[in-house]
Amino acid sequence: MTEIKQKLALKIDAVKALLTSIVTDYESATFASSYGAEDMVLMDLICKFAPEIEIFTLDTGRLPKETYSVMQQAKARYNRDVKVYFPEAADVEQYLTQNGPNAFYDSVELRKQCCAMRKVKPLKRALAGKDAWLTGMRRSQAVTRSDLPVSERDQDHGLQKFSPLTDWSNGDVWAYIRAFDVPYNTLHDQGFASIGCAPCTRAITAGEDIRAGRWWWENPESKECGLHVKAK
Ligand code: ADX
Ligand code: SF4
Repeated sequence: MTEIKQKLALKIDAVKALLTSIVTDYESATFASSYGAEDMVLMDLICKFAPEIEIFTLDTGRLPKETYSVMQQAKARYNRDVKVYFPEAADVEQYLTQNGPNAFYDSVELRKQCCAMRKVKPLKRALAGKDAWLTGMRRSQAVTRSDLPVSERDQDHGLQKFSPLTDWSNGDVWAYIRAFDVPYNTLHDQGFASIGCAPCTRAITAGEDIRAGRWWWENPESKECGLHVKAK
């Protein structure tokens, strides 16, 4: 085995051990998948080694068509139900009537309001009654994530939060996807490093930060959508 493969094998073993311990310690753990590259790695690992863990996704209604394609591909590949949470129709209707469909470009406040009704509120429904949730976040993704722990108490939602890939590099993620032929969002092939809603995501150029294409018109410090609130 090459040194790179050995390193990856160790990281895979560590995630397997963590997933197994989550299944043992928590009755109702659930994984939040956006179908981005990291989440596809975790989906593959969960389906193989910890199928007891539920999987859900937040369909904001503004996702790129490529995200729907990989969602469909993953359904065929893993033969698993991924629970979909959609925003409340009344919330969307009110926001669109008051502010217009693209108001998120006008101010951070209007952007956060859109994320609140399309993502954060549905997330609360997804996590209700659960005792643990998992995300695909990594430390090297953003300045806001540099001290992300593998396990932390999510006070906001009242349960334990796990990020099993915290110490994985972007290279590790892609090495895994290639090695195990994992389905992935084809926008990654077009320079999209981090993928969210279509109107709020663009491709990045060489040397740009991984999350530079998310809400690119805002400062890096404000670039979280409210799904991941840091413990104070
Ligand atoms: S975020 O700002 O949109 O939250 P990012 O796309 O980097 O950032 O996602 C981080 C993690 O949040 C993902 O690995 C996933 O666990 C969760 N997440 C983000 N978007 C969604 C979504 N639409 N549905 C489910 N989980 C999501
Ligand atoms: Fe709205 Fe953009 Fe947030 Fe998606 S990422 S919920 S479109 S502001």
